[in-house]
Amino acid sequence: MKRIFKVSFLALATMFALQSCGGKTTEKTEETTTTEETVAVDETISNDITIESNDAMQYSTNELRAKAGEITVTLKHTGKMEKTVMGHNFVVFKMGTDINAYGAKAADAKDTDYIPASEAASVIAHTKLIGGGESDTITFSITEPGTYDYICSFPGHLALMKGKLIVE
Ligand code: CO
Repeated sequence: MKRIFKVSFLALATMFALQSCGGKTTEKTEETTTTEETVAVDETISNDITIESNDAMQYSTNELRAKAGEITVTLKHTGKMEKTVMGHNFVVFKMGTDINAYGAKAADAKDTDYIPASEAASVIAHTKLIGGGESDTITFSITEPGTYDYICSFPGHLALMKGKLIVE
C-alpha cells in the first residue's frame, strides 16, 4: 500500500543588501519559506505474514503490520540449530500483557515448549517451538486495532526476539 506523507521542507533564503546609500551600512534580511511536497512511501500491510528467525537469536523484523481481521503468520527458522538449543516460536499477546513477567513464567514451562498454561489468558495465539529448517503457520483473529507485542518465549530469547504487531 502506498501512503502519502506530507513532508515539509524548510528553505532559508538569505539576502544581503550591501552598501546602501551611505556606503557603510550593511543590511541583512532573512526570509523563511515553507513548501509542501507529497512523497510516496511503500509500507507493507499484509494479513499473510512471514517472519524469519535464525541461529543468531533474531527475528527478521521487530515490526509487523496487518489489518484487523484474520491474520496468518508463518514463522520460519532459517538456521541449522536444533530447537532444544536455539528454539523459536512466535507468541502474540493481548494488549496490556507484561511480556517480561510472561517470559519468566515461560522459562519454567519446558514441558510445554515454554508456553505456560497458567498464562494462557494473556495469549492471542502462538506457533509451536521450531528448530533450524522448520516452519509453522498459525491463523488467528484480531478485531481491535492497536499495537500487540510478540515474542519468542524460549528462555533468554525475549531480550532480542520481540516486536510489535500493529493492527489497523
Ligand atoms: Co527463540
